[in-house]
Order: sequence, then structure tokens, then C-alpha cells
Amino acid sequence: MKILSLGAGGFIGSHLTHRLLTEGHTVTAVDIETDKVTEFLGHPNLTFLQLDIRSPEWDLDSMVRDSDLVIDLIAYANPGLYLRIPLEVFRLNFIENLKIAEACVRHGKRLIQFSTCEVYGRTAASLKNAGLTDPEDPIHATFSEDTSEYILGPVSKHRWIYSCAKQLLERVLHAYGIEMGFNYTIIRPFNFIGPKIDFLLHEKEGIPRVFSFFMDALLNGTQMKLVNGGSNRRCYTYIDDAVECSWRIVENPGGVCDRQILNIGSPANEISIRQMAELMREIYAEKFRDPAVPLPEIVDVPAEEFYGQGYDDSDRRIPDITKARTLLGWEPKWGVRDILETTMRYYVSSFRKNG
Ligand code: NAD
Ligand code: UGA
Repeated sequence: MKILSLGAGGFIGSHLTHRLLTEGHTVTAVDIETDKVTEFLGHPNLTFLQLDIRSPEWDLDSMVRDSDLVIDLIAYANPGLYLRIPLEVFRLNFIENLKIAEACVRHGKRLIQFSTCEVYGRTAASLKNAGLTDPEDPIHATFSEDTSEYILGPVSKHRWIYSCAKQLLERVLHAYGIEMGFNYTIIRPFNFIGPKIDFLLHEKEGIPRVFSFFMDALLNGTQMKLVNGGSNRRCYTYIDDAVECSWRIVENPGGVCDRQILNIGSPANEISIRQMAELMREIYAEKFRDPAVPLPEIVDVPAEEFYGQGYDDSDRRIPDITKARTLLGWEPKWGVRDILETTMRYYVSSFRKNG
């Protein structure tokens, strides 16, 4: 197949594009950045266009027309950005992505759209006076693609602009499916993690995801900061498991993923952010410690101090992966300790190699 992979230079995009090439596909890849794809930039079946899709030199229509399948991973995907540049988050994650989807509609091409588990928002257990008999029951935090309700905070908590932009895009794709027979598959990732997830703080300006904050603190002996006490929970999913499932969605045997939304995540890997900080510190002390650098302390920080005004958070999110299991026979294999150790090994070794 000739695949157009947009956002191919990012964390998920770099791993998935590598897999597509390994499977013998021809890929046209687009991204502003190339640093995560340097090892396969010269691949004979890869054309890499380093550009901003908002620039006039980008010829979306002919790119889509010449492809058999379009995969769209482009987005601002780090919560720090939802707080700092909410308008840009809306423009890129909705308006620019909509242009890509509409080009697919015009040319009758299948689109795989990366959305997010953030569309689900918060849990019923997080609401005041919810009156649940057992708020800790995982049933209240387990999200299913086609039946779960979405609970988001008020407009003043503008973190949710990311979730809303992605949700609106999903709804528009669905509507194109109903009215024009458009063929799409929506993927909702649940906290993928692995090598190349993000830059480390000392390498680049910006606000990466939590793993990189903690990794940077371990390497440099600075504080590991728990936003609002680190009580919120995530289900971490190893990138190899995620790419395997995404690959099966690309293959789409018998059209099982046509006009479907699929969660990709590891329901057994639930961990609070506090537990994650402690586990990373324990693994680091056991496997990677540089005796010259002190182990970091773990401290609590209010969200306003860490992110600024407008922050809110998903308290808990567990993927229901029945659809991925039954449609694709997929099962995540990696447990949370192994995920963290393997990802940490990658960052420790590149940190020490680069001095
Ligand atoms: P990422 O930031 O690593 O990748 C996004 C890529 O898009 C980056 O390489 C970036 O350079 C590129 N990009 C951004 N703006 C661009 C532009 N104007 N022109 C060209 N390229 C541009 O993020 P990721 O973690 O790989 O996420 C990929 C997709 O999956 C995103 O849509 C994200 O919202 C979604 N997602 C990811 C996760 C996760 O666990 N990583 C979870 C939920 C949703
Ligand atoms: C992120 C992004 O929204 C998206 O990329 C995506 O939709 C989602 O992950 C996903 O991967 O599924 P989130 O999990 O909130 O969402 O992102 P992180 O920045 O990694 O934050 C996780 C938790 O750690 C949050 O509760 C945050 O407040 C906390 N945190 C973050 C800390 O306690 N300390 C830090 O130093 C950084």
C-alpha cells in the first residue's frame, strides 16, 4: 500500500512508520521534526517531507489523492500546551485535521485518525455528590468506545479544549460516515509510553509528559514533582503493544475497523502518578544509579504553580479493550514495571552517550 503518514516524526508516528516500512509498505511521511526518524530516513520506500502542514508549500490534495491510506497523527499532544496556547491547540487539532479528513472524503480514501482517551474526561466517581456506593469500583473508570458518557470541566478549565477539539473532529468524521459513506477508523490511545516519548527538560524548552519530567529529575538529581499530590491514575501502554494494535488496524482484515472507534490501552497497568514516581525512583536506584548524583526527593506541587491557571485533570481512565480484542485478536503484553525499566534504559543510555 501507499500510505501517507502525517505526524510521522513524532513519538507514535516514528514507531508506527518504522513498522509500516518493515512490513513492505511505501510511505510518504510528513512532519516538521526529523530527529526521531534519523535511523530510517534513508529507507528506499520512504519519502520524508519536512514541512509544516499550515504552510502554503503543502499540497494536501495531491498527497491524499496519490495515497491508498492516510494516517493522521498530527496534533499538539502535551497538556502544558493546552494551557499555554489553547487557540493553537484548537486550530491545529481541529481545523487543520478537519482539512485532512475532508481531503480524504473528497478523494474517497480511508483515514486512520488518532484521537485521544481524553475525550472521556473525568469519571462519575470524581463528581461531588455522585452518590456511588463504591466509588473505587473500576467500573466507574472503565471507558467503552460506543457507550460511555463524557464528563468535562467548565470552560474556565481550558485544558479540556484539547479533548473538545478531538471530540468534535470525531463527531464530524462520524457524520461524514453517515452522510457520505466516508471510511475512517478512530484510535483513542491510553497513555502510550516508550523510547522517544518526549524530549528531556535540559534538551529543549517546553512541557513534556510526566515520564520525561521524572526521568529528567532522576538523571539530574532534581525534584520529582507531583501535581496536586499525584493521586490521579493512568493505564500505561507500551509503544510496541500500541504499534502492534495500530498495525492490525492498518491491515483491517475483512474491513472490521471500517467506521469504528477503538481504544488502545492496557487495562491491567493502572498506576497513580505518585506510585509511578516511586516505582521509577526504585528502578533507577536498582538498575541505573549514578552514585555521584543524589536520588531525587518526591514533592507535592499545586497545579496552578506547575501548569498555571486553567488546569484540570482526568482522575482515572481504564480502557475497555473488548473491541480491539474481538475485532483484531489483540492483547497488550507489557506490564508497567517492564515498560518503565525499558523506557528508562533508553533515556539513561542516550543521556550518558551524549555526555
Ligand atoms: P507527538 O507530539 O510526538 O507527535 C505529533 C507530531 O506532529 C510531532 O512530531 C509534531 O512535530 C507533528 N506536528 C505538529 N504540528 C505539525 C504541523 N503543523 N505540521 C507538521 N507536523 C506537525 O505526539 P504523539 O504522542 O506521537 O501523538 C500522536 C497522536 O496521538 C496525536 O494526535 C495525539 O493527540 C494522539 N495521542 C497520543 C497519545 C499518547 O499516548 N502518546 C495519547 C492520546 C492521544
Ligand atoms: C496526556 C496528553 O493529554 C495526551 O498526549 C494524551 O491524550 C494522553 O496523555 C495520553 O497519553 O493518553 P496526561 O496523561 O494528563 O495526558 O499527560 P501527562 O502530562 O503525562 O500527565 C499525567 C499526570 O501526571 C497528570 O495528572 C499530571 O498532572 C501529572 N504530572 C505531570 C505530575 O504529577 N508531575 C509532572 O512533573 C508532570
